Amino acid sequence: MSLPLPEPAAPAAKKLFVKTYGCQMNVYDSERIEDAMRPLGYRAVATPGEADLMVLNTCHIREKAADKVYSELGRLNEIKLARAAAGDAVQIAVAGCVAQAEGPEMLRRQPGVDLVIGPQNYHRMPELLARVGRDRHSLIDTDFAVESKFDNLPRRATAGRGPSAFLTVQEGCDKFCTFCVVPYTRGGETSRPAATIIEEAQQLIDDGVRELTLLGQNVNAYHGTGTDGLDWGLARLIEGLAAIDGIMRIRYMTSHPRDMDAALIAAHRDNDKLMPFLHLPFQSGSDRILAAMNRKHTSADYLRLIERVRIARPDIALSTDVIVGFPGESEADFEATLGLIAKVGYAMAYSFKYSPRPGTPAEGMAGQIAEEVKTARLARLQALLVEQQQAFNAACIGRTLPVLFEKNGRNPGQLIGRSPYLQSVHAKADSSLIGQIVPVHVKSSGMNSLGGEIVSIN
Ligand code: 5AD
Ligand code: SF4
Repeated sequence: MSLPLPEPAAPAAKKLFVKTYGCQMNVYDSERIEDAMRPLGYRAVATPGEADLMVLNTCHIREKAADKVYSELGRLNEIKLARAAAGDAVQIAVAGCVAQAEGPEMLRRQPGVDLVIGPQNYHRMPELLARVGRDRHSLIDTDFAVESKFDNLPRRATAGRGPSAFLTVQEGCDKFCTFCVVPYTRGGETSRPAATIIEEAQQLIDDGVRELTLLGQNVNAYHGTGTDGLDWGLARLIEGLAAIDGIMRIRYMTSHPRDMDAALIAAHRDNDKLMPFLHLPFQSGSDRILAAMNRKHTSADYLRLIERVRIARPDIALSTDVIVGFPGESEADFEATLGLIAKVGYAMAYSFKYSPRPGTPAEGMAGQIAEEVKTARLARLQALLVEQQQAFNAACIGRTLPVLFEKNGRNPGQLIGRSPYLQSVHAKADSSLIGQIVPVHVKSSGMNSLGGEIVSIN
């Protein structure tokens, strides 16, 4: 007779605090960092003071974003020192694009940091932190890993996280816009094979997810190996995902105008699950500035593209990124940007003052624009964008929109969901409707949201 084997001991419960800066790709990565640490017994907590491991997942895209990291690190290090005085060993790890770009500098400026780890290497985090603990000196791992983190991370734990999830399908960028650090911090374009994406999507669906937002720095440049062995573009991948039972909505971001191919435009016409929303940055409306930015498109190319997209899907909501105060930007160049916005009409937009980034070609360009000029231009630009956003939202009043309810609202008895156009929508509804798509008659609109009433289905 054989004796039953003892149950393996559960790893001691440890607490992990992750703070995320920047884009949705970092939000996705932070979840994957939690996944990577889970087998070691870590569970996520909301405040750094109680954590055994504190992680900052950083953004390097603009100077302000990078600066914030150093002040936050000072705060975390004080917590670490106070906890050490009480006999607790706490570790600090810095992940993300500041880590990738400034590894050694980071350890010099904040020696309390135990691990600096680049975005490609999160699957190695447990091993590296163990090594730091053993050898008692800090480590930097910013190599672009040969193996893919996606193949080496544990299964995602998404149960209970709500009906909408991000799924990274592509990383990196080969475009080299002259203002941008992404090609340096995230490396060249790589696409995940479709089979692994479909597998992850299926797990998400099994966990109750209904809406997927496919992420990539240049998501519409996606070209991965398909399940049939052929090269799939983003449109084909979307078709593959839409075929999964249980997926109700698909979105993607961020796209580059150059990679907006005919198949993807047609998908907006033909695929019911692909939501009528497109985030398509144009950055500047001036062809001279677009050339200096190395954007590889003109404002006319962009407008033609928008026209084709609107023919395919007339109600599509458009969103964009735009920069003011790029080196050499004249008043006329800036007005061309305003002109392009006026012609397109955006449902929403992200707008930024140009921020010189170390090592990028634009950093050294002649004609850097004074801060006050950038500030004034940004204010004018944002006034126009706010007007457009309000008008877009107001135009929804009186319409009945299908809303995917995501979570409880601030007021009791109220739920918050999203319209197909990505607007937040509040309505009185029972929380049993979370995860369902329900018709809502829109009654009011604001800058950032809509309010409405559920249309009774019977
Ligand atoms: N300065 C200002 N904005 C920038 N972006 C990227 N790099 C910079 C920079 N150096 C903006 C672009 C991009 C978005 C993610 O951030 O508009 O699309
Ligand atoms: Fe950066 Fe986007 Fe240009 Fe790539 S396409 S370099 S991510 S702004």
